[in-house]
Amino acid sequence: MSKEIYLTGITTTGTPHLGNYVGAIKPAIEASQNKNNQCFYFLADYHALIKCQDPTLVRQSRMEIAATWLALGLDVDTSVFYRQSDIPEIQELNWILSCVAAKGLLNRAHAYKALVAENETSGTKDPDKGITMGLFCYPVLMAADILMFNANKVPVGKDQIQHIEMTRDIAARFNYIYGEFFTLPEAQVEESAAVLSGLDGRKMSKSYNNTIPLFTPEKKLRKLVMKIKTNSLEPGEPKDHKTCTLFQIYSAFSSSTEVERMRQQYADGIAWGEMKQTLFEKLNNELAAPRERYESLMEQPTRIEEILLAGRDQARARAKPLLEQLREAVGIT
Ligand code: TRP
Repeated sequence: MSKEIYLTGITTTGTPHLGNYVGAIKPAIEASQNKNNQCFYFLADYHALIKCQDPTLVRQSRMEIAATWLALGLDVDTSVFYRQSDIPEIQELNWILSCVAAKGLLNRAHAYKALVAENETSGTKDPDKGITMGLFCYPVLMAADILMFNANKVPVGKDQIQHIEMTRDIAARFNYIYGEFFTLPEAQVEESAAVLSGLDGRKMSKSYNNTIPLFTPEKKLRKLVMKIKTNSLEPGEPKDHKTCTLFQIYSAFSSSTEVERMRQQYADGIAWGEMKQTLFEKLNNELAAPRERYESLMEQPTRIEEILLAGRDQARARAKPLLEQLREAVGIT
């Protein structure tokens, strides 16, 4: 049986936080342990340029994200782990796809439409004010990432589903014009993965500035957990676990028996201070070992570089022959 090609990209902006871990990294690493999948995981550093024009931050974040995935146990002997920018074939395919992608399709992208709507409500004359071609064409580059490896399944968050639909559209159009070269990918949305709340109770997200960085040092981790917003119920008063950020984060890291026990403690009126201490210990226990690996990797940039270059070679070995065929098909030889 041939393996399912499982592919996803991580935009390299910011520092990975608990929400990224629970919602994306953990399920992706679990999927890579399934022998029926061949995984391609990559650092989408060219996508990062759309959001971040500070070269130091782009470099830093790329390093941190690479080290994070390795520290959490991604096995690079069975998965292909690489940087988008190391695969020139993706950029070439990006252009080829740009020439079949309908502009009207891209006009409908949520991310682009949201910015246009903002300009319109702010009363600016130009609805495209401040919007780069990079942002507008973002879904085409994403299609190139996916189609370059003929991925079957693309694990993504809900906000990315539209991009996978666009990828299918672009692939189908190419296939119709030039012949069946591309597999139509499917989005794989982890319905079971929790969407974590952050310090202020809203969804944990860099844009809300309410995150707990995954590998923050122990002291800082304790401080942040103590800062998580609760209500003013006293010890001994029953508490609602359903609306509680502490409980929600605790659950994402605990077995169902532990969760059940904690639910009882909420009903019995656990004190917030005690709950925060329990949550801190839980997180710290789970994260201490990978944190140590992470810190050690961050001190060995050449080790990370070697791993990524090995990934590049594996990825290019796949990409090159397909790109040759595609060039031939469109009449560029
Ligand atoms: N756009 C994705 C995000 O921001 C990242 C990404 C880039 C990606 N290329 C991809 C995801 C290809 C899946 C497949 O989350």
